[in-house]
Amino acid sequence: MDQSVIVTGAGRGLGFSLVKQHCQRGDRVYAYEVEITDELREYARTNAKLHIYQCDLAQTASVEAAVVDMLAKEVKIDFLYNNAGVFHFSGRCGLAETDIDAGLIMYEVNAAGLLRMCKAAIPKLGDGSIVVNITSESGSIGDCYRDCEYIYGMSKAAANIASMILYNEVKERGTRVICFHPGWLRSPMGGENAAVSPYSVSTDESAANIVGYAINPDTIPEGVFFMEHTGKPLPW
Ligand SMILES: NC(=O)c1ccc[n+]([C@@H]2O[C@H](COP(=O)([O-])OP(=O)(O)OC[C@H]3O[C@@H](n4cnc5c(N)ncnc54)[C@H](OP(=O)(O)O)[C@@H]3O)[C@@H](O)[C@H]2O)c1
Repeated sequence: MDQSVIVTGAGRGLGFSLVKQHCQRGDRVYAYEVEITDELREYARTNAKLHIYQCDLAQTASVEAAVVDMLAKEVKIDFLYNNAGVFHFSGRCGLAETDIDAGLIMYEVNAAGLLRMCKAAIPKLGDGSIVVNITSESGSIGDCYRDCEYIYGMSKAAANIASMILYNEVKERGTRVICFHPGWLRSPMGGENAAVSPYSVSTDESAANIVGYAINPDTIPEGVFFMEHTGKPLPW
């Protein structure tokens, strides 16, 4: 039986790979993107169950408007992938050079934007629903080794705590929430070095691993809420 899926940041990178994974399963996919890409539009032409919407996660009104059609169509959302993210390469610096005001857009999208989409979708989350939040190892306090990139790391740590609070709120109705570090992606955000590094991963491979866990949540060990796409648990 087909299932219903939300993906944010669906136009490129990992988000587009998540969209393709679920379309190949025959699922109904609601794809949200701030600027709809030709790639996504073209893919939707041959996939009648793929619905695409413009949505700026940094704007509450934009999110609320974008989900109206999904809310009207669906009784329940089976998978919600909060994938959209922003990384400013200019923020890869120590505190003295950090432009805090310019960096806050990362917080606005990566943390508050994730929460906006969760809030919009919460009426449709029920027994068996899975919320997959694509955060990052850079939001792990226990594993932190960085001496730069303050605001990106803060935004991802904030997304992690939001995920845990959401889980506490929705667990009684049978909804699971899990955070993934998707690996160092060969994507625009991964940067030029990712394209040639043996330590990076393609967005298709990372998405396949993440979807594998989302469709078989029993393979996620009890008590694990934050993990790499490979299945390795991460400390908060
Ligand atoms: N790349 C990595 O190595 C890496 C590592 C760890 C974690 N992550 C996380 O993994 C996720 C996917 O990363 P990626 O590498 O696939 O990134 P990406 O290629 O840069 O794609 C990010 C997506 O988010 C969308 N987005 C940005 N701002 C938005 C907004 N205000 N409203 C709605 N959508 C917005 C982008 O849309 P536009 O293209 O229109 O801007 C794009 O589709 C992100 O959450 C990222 O933080 C990535």
